[in-house]
Amino acid sequence: MDKNDKIKILILDDEKQFTEELSGFFEDSEFESFEANTVAEGKRLLCLHVIDLLILDVRLPGANGLDVLKEVKTQYPCMEVIIISAHGDMDTVIKAMRLGAFDYLRKPFRFIDIQIAIERTQKYLQMQRKLKHMEEKNSLISKTLEKKINRQFIGISPQILEVFEQAIIAANYPDANVLITGESGTGKENIARIIHYSSSRKDHIFAAVNSSAITDTLLESEFFGHKKGSFTGAFTDKMGYFEVCNRGTLFLDEIADMPFNLQAKILRATEEKVITRVGDTNLIHTDFRIISTTNHDIEERVERKNFRLDLLHRLNTLHIHIPALRERPEDIKPLVEHYIEVFSTKLNKPDIQVAKEVFAVLKKYDFPGNVRELRNMTERAIMLCKDNSLGIDDFRVKSHRAEKETPKVEEVDLRLNEIKMIRKALQMCKYNQQTTADALGIHRDALSRKMKKYNIKINKTEE
Ligand SMILES: Nc1ncnc2c1ncn2[C@@H]1O[C@H](COP(=O)(O)OP(=O)(O)OP(=O)(O)O)[C@@H](O)[C@H]1O
Ligand SMILES: [Mg+2]
Repeated sequence: MDKNDKIKILILDDEKQFTEELSGFFEDSEFESFEANTVAEGKRLLCLHVIDLLILDVRLPGANGLDVLKEVKTQYPCMEVIIISAHGDMDTVIKAMRLGAFDYLRKPFRFIDIQIAIERTQKYLQMQRKLKHMEEKNSLISKTLEKKINRQFIGISPQILEVFEQAIIAANYPDANVLITGESGTGKENIARIIHYSSSRKDHIFAAVNSSAITDTLLESEFFGHKKGSFTGAFTDKMGYFEVCNRGTLFLDEIADMPFNLQAKILRATEEKVITRVGDTNLIHTDFRIISTTNHDIEERVERKNFRLDLLHRLNTLHIHIPALRERPEDIKPLVEHYIEVFSTKLNKPDIQVAKEVFAVLKKYDFPGNVRELRNMTERAIMLCKDNSLGIDDFRVKSHRAEKETPKVEEVDLRLNEIKMIRKALQMCKYNQQTTADALGIHRDALSRKMKKYNIKINKTEE
């Protein structure tokens, strides 16, 4: 065993002969021992060495052993203490155990007794050491994960550098709520994770919740938790997201879809940081920060009374907007290079070369799916390319989209198009709402909400 790994024992007893004998007993063993015959000497040794175990006589001249025990347990909470008491002094033993002593020995004792006591403590100490190593390893893993995440937000455009700066501010103010806006695939979730893992909340939970993926009836209990038996199916007590995220971050993905009646409850929880589980009356304090996202025009939702203005004000203490990729074409090249590095290793195609024209064409393309689309495009191009050389054909850019024609007014009316699409899909799916929702790629509840919003009704004759 390495000398540094040896368990260090300090023997504090006023009888010199006793400490010497005991110390001799530990010689050539897996323990390293130190002796002290006064409290002052003991304290000096505690300062000098990282002592794992203190063998402490509670009857010391001029000092109360229990006071010493209390003091060292406060100052060195990881150190274990075995106390030595006089025969029949059970009162002191009980007090000492209450103050955190691990074990006790009654004088007079045999060396074998102390050996057994130390072995018991040793097992405990070894477990503690293992746990500490594991914790250190875990924090190392999260550190490398952090670095990885940081490295993965690529961009050189002034807009993306500003996004990064704002993310750093958000990380430095861990109690401020953050609203991240931007089109689909611009990296909203990516930035949210960067903020969380760079903030003081990083050792706690980052829970991502997409409310449109949860049924309305379950939403409240998902957020607030519930008490056993509060509704059919509530078989056990359950914590909700607000509680789970205590000291962490609650990531609300796509807030525009949040049902109106839940918004008031979320607002109250966010303001008061106190919640009650469904079916319960106990107040639970929880300290969470909300990072939310939307790729809808949330102001317009507010105007149409689909989203509460007071909640929006609560959520956007800090607002980060990630511009679409077409608005920052200078980021395309570094992103492609980054994804080549990632996928050439993954797909085992080293030394990929890119034809010059590729970047020129990509810069003209409007990327409706933003970085996600570019990433998928590059991955596919690497799979398709021959001789490890990427040409523009490998990217399969839809050229008609690259030419920026002015669309007709009708084409840009999102609301009208959504209504049309829903009606058409319903018709095609014979008015079966589940099949329609699947065909549209949205949750059935999101479809119901949209139908209610646009007043789309299914006639009995149509059904
Ligand atoms: N600047 C960037 N650097 C590297 N990768 C990025 C960047 N921006 C986005 N990505 C990648 O693009 C993909 C989509 O990002 P993300 O899921 O964060 O987007 P989103 O804005 O949340 O999209 P949606 O609105 O569809 O949920 C992910 O694989 C992400 O890692
Ligand atoms: Mg997202």
